[in-house]
Parts: sequence; C-alpha cells; structure tokens
Amino acid sequence: MERCQKEELCRAALRARENAYCPYSHFAVGAALLCRDGRVYTGCNVESAAYAPSVCAERTAFCKAVSEGARDFAAIAIAGGPQGEAPREACPPCGVCRQVMLEFCGPDFAVLLAWEETAWKEVSLQELAPMGFGPGNLEKEDGSRAYV
Ligand code: THU
Repeated sequence: MERCQKEELCRAALRARENAYCPYSHFAVGAALLCRDGRVYTGCNVESAAYAPSVCAERTAFCKAVSEGARDFAAIAIAGGPQGEAPREACPPCGVCRQVMLEFCGPDFAVLLAWEETAWKEVSLQELAPMGFGPGNLEKEDGSRAYV
C-alpha cells in the first residue's frame, strides 16, 4: 500500500470520527476499512443509554462492509480520542473488534492507528491478536467444519 493511500484512509477515519455518537463516554472513534477492490467503508462508535448495546467504530465499519457483500479486506484506519479534541495518540482496537478482524482478515491485514492524517502507527493483525481463534480453528483436517 502506498503512503498516499494510507493517508487517505486515515483522513477517512478522522472524518468518520466526527459522526461518533458518544454521549456517555465522550470518547469519539472513527474507522475506515479498505477492501482489496478499493472500496472504503467508514464507521463511528454508536453508544446506548443501556451501555451494553454500544458498538465500536471498527465493528460499525465491518458490519456496513459485510452487509454490502464485501469480504476481502486490506487495511483499516482507526482514530480515537476525547470528544471535541483532535486525537493525540494511537487508539488500539478493543478485544471484541480484534476478534471480528480475525473472522474476516488474515495475519497481514494492516491496522493503522492514526492521530493525524499524516501520523499513524501501523501494526499487523498478527501483532494485534497473536494466537487468535478464527474460522480456521473450526475446520477439521479434511477441510470440513467441526460443528457440522
Ligand atoms: N471504542 C471504539 O469505538 N473503538 C475502539 O477501538 C476503542 C473503544 C469506543 C467504545 C466506546 O463507545 C468508547 O470508545 C469508549 O470506550
């Protein structure tokens, strides 16, 4: 991935962050998910007065993408920080979002933790979720699914 493409993805995450609905935590997060075919799906966190139904920015983006038929992902940019301020440091994804990444993405999936459109820390999914449990763990040696 070229640097300018990464900058574009970080910019999209920062823009999506402006839509964050976070009246309880006041912590605003945006995400931009890049498909291998070039499509980009964005998301923000959407909180709930009942707290538990709150959804992270990353999962909003994955649900939008998967529900539109996308399955093949190259990278995600994530930008988070206190609402009303520019992010000042990398915001790493929560464990539940890492698990969703393991469902759809391989070890080389690129995760850009952005605080500006020209400043991010890049990590692979392998680094974020070593020894993760994914769809492959449900496969038997003959390629069939363990649960069928
Ligand atoms: N949050 C995200 O949207 N993504 C992350 O990577 C970390 C946390 C949200 C969840 C909640 O709405 C708020 O940030 C504070 O935890």
